[in-house]
Amino acid sequence: MDDWATILSLGSGYVALMDGQVVGAMCMTSFGEVAATSLLIVDDKMRGRGLGDNLMNLALEVSGGRECRLISTTAGLHLYRKLGFREIETIHAHQGTVSPIQAADGIEWTTRDDFNQICDIDRSATGIERRTLMSALWETGRYAVIRDSGQIVGYSALFWYGRGENAGPVIGRNTDEARRLLSFLFSHLLAHSFASTSVSRRGSQIG
Ligand SMILES: CC(C)(COP(=O)(O)OP(=O)(O)OC[C@H]1O[C@@H](n2cnc3c(N)ncnc32)[C@H](O)[C@@H]1OP(=O)(O)O)[C@@H](O)C(=O)NCCC(=O)NCCS
Repeated sequence: MDDWATILSLGSGYVALMDGQVVGAMCMTSFGEVAATSLLIVDDKMRGRGLGDNLMNLALEVSGGRECRLISTTAGLHLYRKLGFREIETIHAHQGTVSPIQAADGIEWTTRDDFNQICDIDRSATGIERRTLMSALWETGRYAVIRDSGQIVGYSALFWYGRGENAGPVIGRNTDEARRLLSFLFSHLLAHSFASTSVSRRGSQIG
């Protein structure tokens, strides 16, 4: 429920109803010129009847011709391809209990003073304005940064979502910086905490 509340605080939710009962739902968030859909789900007894298709068509209508992005599970791929979505990259989700790990050097927790600089880096890496999402993550988590000559050149966040603590997004100039940011975050997990992260070739996404 908290996850839905977090996502809904950033956008709008839509439901499919049958006899007054919710049998499907999805969320839609605006990131400037880009709309993102998430958490599409149809009651397992009601699948295969076009409800997922209807919800997605509603999302596309509401997005008003803007670019629309989403992170798909394998279950959603057929539906999204049929609607014209095209794959841009593969994201690998990892979750589990992290073993004790040594914190990497050169990474530090940061304060809200750095928020604008972090948003700038995120925008240049993702091409979208995610300030509202970044602000929401700050409410439930904390941000770590990597600096070069005093300037922030990479960042990552550790926040509560789903079944435990989540690490991401991870944005650095190269794989080594991304790895160091992740190892710093993992070294600060609560003991025996369940953690997850989703990694793509370009970095790490929330999903
Ligand atoms: C993905 C999901 C939302 C689809 O909902 P749905 O109401 O069953 O979808 P629809 O009935 O509108 O079907 C749309 C198309 O996808 C196909 N499809 C639906 N589920 C599929 C599956 N698991 N595997 C392959 N194709 C599937 C349908 O056959 C249909 O294709 P067609 O028009 O060519 O026959 C539903 O399976 C679900 O809730 N899955 C679990 C949550 C999830 O993974 N959500 C996606 C998050 S990205």
